[in-house]
Amino acid sequence: MISQHPVEGYAIISADGMIADAAGRMPDAIRNPADQRFLQTELDRAAAVVHGRHSHEGGPRSAARKRLIVTRGVAALAGDPANANALLWNPAGATLQAALEALGVGDSDGIVAIIGGTEVFGLFLPLYDAFHLTRAAHVRIPVGRPVFPGVGPNSSPEDLLARHGLKAGPRRDIDAVAGITLITWKR
Ligand SMILES: NC(=O)c1ccc[n+]([C@@H]2O[C@H](COP(=O)([O-])OP(=O)(O)OC[C@H]3O[C@@H](n4cnc5c(N)ncnc54)[C@H](OP(=O)(O)O)[C@@H]3O)[C@@H](O)[C@H]2O)c1
Repeated sequence: MISQHPVEGYAIISADGMIADAAGRMPDAIRNPADQRFLQTELDRAAAVVHGRHSHEGGPRSAARKRLIVTRGVAALAGDPANANALLWNPAGATLQAALEALGVGDSDGIVAIIGGTEVFGLFLPLYDAFHLTRAAHVRIPVGRPVFPGVGPNSSPEDLLARHGLKAGPRRDIDAVAGITLITWKR
């Protein structure tokens, strides 16, 4: 929790824990309409969305959302010339609280939604109040970008969430035909 904002993560992963292929592209096989509906509805209740350059959620309501774009390209915080609702943020130079205040959402309600990619998901592992992990059980990406740094043959995404103090909730089959399940992990 950062002031009154719960910190919540959102990812859809392959059976083997990947969010994208080795080239950094998200294959169509791990895109799913039920997951997209869930994500977009959740982001509508966010005070701020946080992501790296290649992890924008898209969709018709995205322009209205306040966002922090994580980058080493600025020392601390700077305006985004491309989006008046966004700030460029380097966590090494400014705290999340300072970034939220600069974004103008310090006192508002709503979650801080973390939507990737790999390093950004990893940065927040100690802070998540909840992580919504969607899995496409029929898809494998043997060489790809994992949801968290450190995911590999001996360490699953679930191992890392558990190691950081989160516990699994019930499994929801959000698209049973496509093999898509969603589990919310909570601190
Ligand atoms: N399946 C899913 O749920 C999901 C979710 C998100 C993304 N994806 C996919 O994953 C791929 C992109 O992944 P990506 O990992 O390359 O993500 P990305 O969103 O481009 O994030 C990487 C960038 O974040 C910044 N960054 C990372 N760690 C940082 C730190 N400690 N301090 C400051 N800046 C930091 C850097 O930006 P600068 O280079 O500007 O310094 C880095 O290039 C895309 O295909 C995307 O569609 C999938």
